[in-house]
Amino acid sequence: MRSLLVLVLAAGEGTRMASSLPKVLHKVAGRSMVGHVVATARGAGAAAVTVVVGPGRDDVAKEVKSIAPDAEIFVQAERRGTAHAVLAARAALERGYDDVVVMYGDTPLVEGSTLSALRTPLAEGAAVTVLGFRPADPTGYGRLLTDGGTLTAIREEKDATDAERAVTLCNAGLMAFDGRSILPILDAIGDDNAKKEFYLTDAVEIARAVGRDAAVTEADAAEVAGVNTRAQLAEAEAIIQQRLRAAAMANGATLIAPETVFLSIDTRLGRDVVIEPNVVFGPGVVVDDEVVIHAFSHLEGAHLSRGVSIGPYARLRPGAALGEGVRIGNFVEIKASELGAGTKVNHLSYVGDSSVGANTNIGAGSITCNYDGYNKHRTTIGANVFIGSNTLMVAPVTIGDGAYTATGSVITDTVPGDALAVGRARQVNKEGWAMRLRERLAALKNK
Ligand code: UD1
Ligand code: MG
Repeated sequence: MRSLLVLVLAAGEGTRMASSLPKVLHKVAGRSMVGHVVATARGAGAAAVTVVVGPGRDDVAKEVKSIAPDAEIFVQAERRGTAHAVLAARAALERGYDDVVVMYGDTPLVEGSTLSALRTPLAEGAAVTVLGFRPADPTGYGRLLTDGGTLTAIREEKDATDAERAVTLCNAGLMAFDGRSILPILDAIGDDNAKKEFYLTDAVEIARAVGRDAAVTEADAAEVAGVNTRAQLAEAEAIIQQRLRAAAMANGATLIAPETVFLSIDTRLGRDVVIEPNVVFGPGVVVDDEVVIHAFSHLEGAHLSRGVSIGPYARLRPGAALGEGVRIGNFVEIKASELGAGTKVNHLSYVGDSSVGANTNIGAGSITCNYDGYNKHRTTIGANVFIGSNTLMVAPVTIGDGAYTATGSVITDTVPGDALAVGRARQVNKEGWAMRLRERLAALKNK
């Protein structure tokens, strides 16, 4: 097994996103672009992952660490070109790896298999491999110049002759290097070009000049699409959603209208899960087998155990943990709450910061009042409880196993197990009162 160092370049700041957020922190499928790249590097078995960021970019560093805690961060103090950026990580390169792969933080869709394919020629003696692709519009990309099938040079658009510009095979940006010769090659790169930058792409000509081979691996244009604008961000999102839906279906989930279901990169779906149209999965959702998610539901940070049914129009927020067979109906929101097996919350309810036992029924319109304007408080509801419709549970409060609350109650004190709590005014009927009122008001009006 050849050892691998992956170096992610993320120091350049594209300004075309019209955003206060650094470009590589924009998300696709619920994960930042740089996060995708780092995760792909990890998945491809990199012994070390290093990321080159711009000065003061602690936010990018923090995001990288959240995905790969042992990733190393290097700062490129000045933006002087892609080779200069790679050399910011000289300390990592000096440790000596068999293969070094350079990826861009704004190219989130590259798959691990492509990264592996790029490394293959290195094992056969090449000094450098470049990922090539044929974009619909090659403007702005480096052109791959070949001679009888071998790569001789990469020419940047601004430095190219008209004949070179006519070449349609372009540099996707992903390059792999023989780790034993990368440093002398990079140190030989100068900035004598149109942009006065140190181009990583010059590595090809330098390697060839010392008699080493350079190779090209071709990739699908959709996979290597870089993101510079919000429109391209949306295109990347569409591509990744297609992949995630296909994978979900291949793993045994039914998506009735797959194009209307939006998944996150970390969504986990069991077998025989059925997802109706227009469902959105934010990050951190785990769905066990045989769950049904009805139309127009929104989930994030939730765990749904086997046989759960939610929606239509259900909202599960972070910390929602639903036991086996739990049923959540329309216009119900669950947050930071565990619900025991068989419990039902079927209509128009909010359950937050709560723990609810098994086989409890929470009636329509019932709400946990968990927030006093300063702090959140917990509600504890036992097993086999019957919460009458429109019960307000003012937290912190506890309702014991087997208790009932009367419809319309405001519960502020502990309810013992098997008790009935009535927390509302008693009904009083005043005979004839309405008729007398009408007569008085009519007389006043006609005066
Ligand atoms: C680069 C390639 C070009 C290729 C294209 C693919 C070079 C010289 N050119 O051009 O052949 O077709 O990508 O998209 O490599 N970066 C830094 N520090 C720097 C400069 C760049 O970290 O000083 C990072 C950027 O954040 C970005 C990546 O390197 O992630 C590429 O930089 P960019 O300026 O976009 O290069 P291109 O001109 O697009
Ligand atoms: Mg670019």
